[in-house]
Amino acid sequence: MNKNKIALALTLTFSILLITGCSTQATPTNQVQTTPTAQPQVQGPGKVLVKTTPIPNVKPPAPPPKIPGITSTEVAKHNSASDCWMIVNGKVYNVTSYVTNHPGGKAIVLGCGKDATSLFESKHPQKAHNILQNYYLDILK
Ligand code: HEM
Repeated sequence: MNKNKIALALTLTFSILLITGCSTQATPTNQVQTTPTAQPQVQGPGKVLVKTTPIPNVKPPAPPPKIPGITSTEVAKHNSASDCWMIVNGKVYNVTSYVTNHPGGKAIVLGCGKDATSLFESKHPQKAHNILQNYYLDILK
C-alpha cells in the first residue's frame, strides 16, 4: 500500500516535470531573430533552399549630357586630303570621301582643317551647297 503511494507520487512528479519542461522550451526570448528572406527552407531530404534578398532595380546615375559641337582645335587635326574636315558657316563637315570627286580638283584641300567659309562661298553654286550637306558632322563649338 505504501509502495503504491510512492509509485503514484513519483509518476505524478515525473508527469508534472515532463509537462512543465516542454512548455518552457520555446520561450520568445530564446528565439533567434532572422529576416524572413534569409530563412532556409527545407525542400526535401538533404535539400535546403536559402532565399536571397533580391537586389533592388536601381539604375546607375545617367552620364552628363553630351554638349553638342566640335571645336576648331579638333577640326584642325583633320587637315589633309586623306582626312579632311572643314568649317562652313558655323558647321563642321567631314569631306574626306569627296576630295577625290571634287570637280575643282585638289583645290578643295586648301580648306581642310580650317574655316573654309569664304573659300567655299566664293567659288560654288547652290549645287555645291547641297552636296556639302551629305558630309555634315556637327555644329562648331
Ligand atoms: C573649301 C575648299 C574648296 C575650294 C578651294 C574649292 C574650289 C573649287 C573650284 C576652284 C571649283 C571650280 C572649278 C571650275 O569651275 O572649273 C570648284 C567646283 C566645285 N566644287 Fe569646290 N572647292 C572647295 C570645297 C568644296 C566642297 C567642300 C564641295 C562639296 C562638298 C565642293 C564642291 C564643288 C562642286 C560641286 C563644284 C562644281 C561646281 C559647278 O558645277 O559649277 N567644293 N571648287
